[in-house]
Amino acid sequence: MKIDEKYYRTIKAFPGAGSSKNASFWGVEIIDQTKLPHRFELFQLNKLVEMITAIKTMQVRGAPLIGAAAAYGMALAVQENADDGHLAKAAQLLLDSRPTAVNLRWAVNRMLNKLSSLPIESRCKAAWQEAALICDEDVTLNHQIGQHGLGLIQTAASQKQTPTFNILTHCNAGWLATVDWGTALAPIYAAHDAGMNIHVWVDETRPRNQGASLTAWELDKHGVPHTVISDNAGGHLMQHGQVDMVIVGADRVTSTGDVCNKIGTYLKALAAFDNQVPFYAAVPSPTIDWKIQDGLSDIEIEMRDGDEVSYISGLTAQGEIETIRVTPEHSIAINPAFDVTPSKLVTGIITERGVCAANALKSLFKD
Ligand code: MRU
Repeated sequence: MKIDEKYYRTIKAFPGAGSSKNASFWGVEIIDQTKLPHRFELFQLNKLVEMITAIKTMQVRGAPLIGAAAAYGMALAVQENADDGHLAKAAQLLLDSRPTAVNLRWAVNRMLNKLSSLPIESRCKAAWQEAALICDEDVTLNHQIGQHGLGLIQTAASQKQTPTFNILTHCNAGWLATVDWGTALAPIYAAHDAGMNIHVWVDETRPRNQGASLTAWELDKHGVPHTVISDNAGGHLMQHGQVDMVIVGADRVTSTGDVCNKIGTYLKALAAFDNQVPFYAAVPSPTIDWKIQDGLSDIEIEMRDGDEVSYISGLTAQGEIETIRVTPEHSIAINPAFDVTPSKLVTGIITERGVCAANALKSLFKD
């Protein structure tokens, strides 16, 4: 996507990294998402350990992007030492960095499978190539999701009397959460670019505010009309006919269509169900975990630090980014980062192969 007329992807490799400035030594450049929306800063990583920190601290985040970041983490690891023992250790460290999004496991396993079959001396070049391929594929998958989702929005909008089509989204499943385009926001960008009158309700998405700080920033940069709402407002808006469709992303979807996504998604699905508002998840195939069937019992939900609930960051009137406490000093906070929406509450899943009922994913992915 473009920022101020310049094309960016959220992650890319570049030659000549590190203190050596040796052209055969590669590094990885990311957009530091912890600084948005107030500062747009690129950040360079030269070592596996730096990539692990970037994933844990959410400088890079969003299921497809942490898959891509893990792939580049493996490339950085191979550059340090390409033997089997080091690769296995690197893979485990990456797998432990964030547990819920299955894209990370998918990417690490794909890198391991590719590299372990090669002689040690050819692993480094192959690792950078494979990670770049994962990124390119992500862009293609998300673009296809955008086109399938566009059809869905066009059909729904054609049955509506009023000119504006209102879509509610939760968290950030835009291009910042992927390599490009996004998952839930890809259909929205496609519809906006096709000239449709789209307006987006952006859930703030406490505690880390990915909606208020990232989704709102993205939509603003692309010129898509949007309004940030508190997480508690969606149900009220649905009751008053102000939401035509909900589209969210996902961190892991079971083979039966249970959707694990950012905490709070389940409550939106309940409200949508009660108000007959169609609720869609936009899901590229690396987000589907074919090995599991029951989202509630089979998905590890990441528990993050309670401080993310107790404290909040923002821009002061003086232009400084500051963090302040919002809870009483001795109150404990807990912070489950994701929840699971059972497939019975999901109207459909938008994939790169088309749209299907949540419990019919296998009909699109017979292979
Ligand atoms: O904790 P995060 O910010 O990595 O969580 C991200 C989400 O839950 C997104 O909705 C999900 O990854 C969407 S996929 C583009």
